[in-house]
Amino acid sequence: RRILLVNGPNLNLLGTREPAIYGADTLADVEALVGRVATEFGLDVRCVQSNHEGVLIDAIHAAREDCAAVIINAGAFTHTSVAIRDALTGVALPVAEVHISNVHTREAFRHESFISDIAECVIVGCGVQGYDFAVRRIAALLAG
Ligand code: DQA
Repeated sequence: RRILLVNGPNLNLLGTREPAIYGADTLADVEALVGRVATEFGLDVRCVQSNHEGVLIDAIHAAREDCAAVIINAGAFTHTSVAIRDALTGVALPVAEVHISNVHTREAFRHESFISDIAECVIVGCGVQGYDFAVRRIAALLAG
């Protein structure tokens, strides 16, 4: 079975973007980490990163064909996008929401998420290790 890993806007800059907040690991490191952990559980991963909302929505729709779950860090779209939320509920796959930083210690506009209340689990403030936790949680859910 396969997991769709979705990273939203500006996460392509991981490693160089505000390293005090997001750390030194790059998006390639994150995708490799998720692939490695998924393999431990016999799961495949498809990775998508985009700065464009519609591209993320299309990727979520496509997951309906061949994925069993979605791990998503929607970046700033977390706090703005009803459309991404609707895509996730539309495909009815289990969702793990990840944020590298602890959004709750940051600006008030980051405290609201359009995804959290439809997610199976929400992992914030664990750095990129949050992606590792998300894979493990999804694997447990899929194992029933
Ligand atoms: C983020 C938190 C968001 O508020 C921010 O817009 C991001 C990254 C995180 O991983 O901590 O782009 O999702």
